[in-house]
Amino acid sequence: MRAIYPGSFSPPTLGHLDIIRRAAKLFDEVVVAVLSQPEKSYLFSLDERKDMLKRILSGIPNARVVADTGLLADVARREGADVLLRGIRDASDLPLEMQMAAANRQIGGVDTVFLVCSPEYSLLSSSIVRDCARHRAPINGMVPPEIVNDIYAACLRGVGL
Ligand code: PNS
Repeated sequence: MRAIYPGSFSPPTLGHLDIIRRAAKLFDEVVVAVLSQPEKSYLFSLDERKDMLKRILSGIPNARVVADTGLLADVARREGADVLLRGIRDASDLPLEMQMAAANRQIGGVDTVFLVCSPEYSLLSSSIVRDCARHRAPINGMVPPEIVNDIYAACLRGVGL
């Protein structure tokens, strides 16, 4: 079975990596889809987000990365995904996630399955990482070490701030 794991990944965190690692044990293949939310500007370009993910997923043979500016339901169909996968940090994630799952089922006929994130990552978010990095605070323990320098560099550059 093939799952597609969509997100903004701006930047990817250890919480995302935890979900992908666990999903790679549950599914034959995990397609990580870097997408964008409409009307949102990002610190990292789509290609930069894709590149960071490719580097941190190099040790997971049944995970691959795609990037797209379009509709998730279209990307899922194109990639032959059987299910959508999303991580849930706590109950406050549910209302929006349930709306998105219902919309994707309506427009794409595809179900969403949820993995509950590991407790050590339940308070972590990409926006917290960006905020810490902008203030030059340490972000080790929040993101994979391979991308720490990319994040500080992007914060210095300041695109999307
Ligand atoms: O990591 P995020 O920001 O919570 O991910 C949200 C994302 C990118 C998965 C969502 O905004 C999305 O699917 N965007 C693509 C456009 C789309 O399909 N919109 C309809 C979703 S119901």
